[in-house]
Amino acid sequence: MELSTILPNIIADKQLHARWLNTLSLMENTGARKISASEDPVTVTYIILKHAAEEHRHAFYLKKQIEKTEEGLCPTYAGEYLLAPAYSKYYLNQLDIDVCRYLKSELKLTGRELRFAAYLLVTYAIEVRADELYPIYQDALDNAGSKVNVKSIILEEEGHLEEMINQLQHFSPDWQLHAQKAVDMETRLFKNWVNELGAVINN
Ligand SMILES: [Fe+2]
Ligand SMILES: [Fe+2]
Repeated sequence: MELSTILPNIIADKQLHARWLNTLSLMENTGARKISASEDPVTVTYIILKHAAEEHRHAFYLKKQIEKTEEGLCPTYAGEYLLAPAYSKYYLNQLDIDVCRYLKSELKLTGRELRFAAYLLVTYAIEVRADELYPIYQDALDNAGSKVNVKSIILEEEGHLEEMINQLQHFSPDWQLHAQKAVDMETRLFKNWVNELGAVINN
């Protein structure tokens, strides 16, 4: 199943829509906390601080959008307030594990270098995904005449992708090769996540 066919079904059901927004909020929050956790306390840059702040804002903003679904019933990230809760939590953590495994075996990185390289590749793959997912969601929202909107997120995610490419160019002349590996790993995980969402809709 494709996300573009699943989303109209989710948006049409207030309760599912509220849980979808909460699930996106959870994933943004997980991403934000991962960026913050990978920050070096001394060498952290303006760009990394900006990025972490904006991902935290996305988590908050999506949570706030739940009010517009007139459901307003997702106070926490407990499983009952999410869609595909187990997989939604697993997705980003597994991507991190897969990317770290690749960096250790292929580039023999450890410690601080490993943490920074994993931040670059995981975040790059997520930004590629975000640049695809949010516009599909916004289209579905427009078609449904929903009051929810994610345009401010789309704008910031586009900036993030550019910033990640900039940082990756400084990281390695072979950055595109490594970045593609991360994108391949993410694509596999994302497809499984969409299948899980499809199963929720069909139940
Ligand atoms: Fe984000
Ligand atoms: Fe982002």
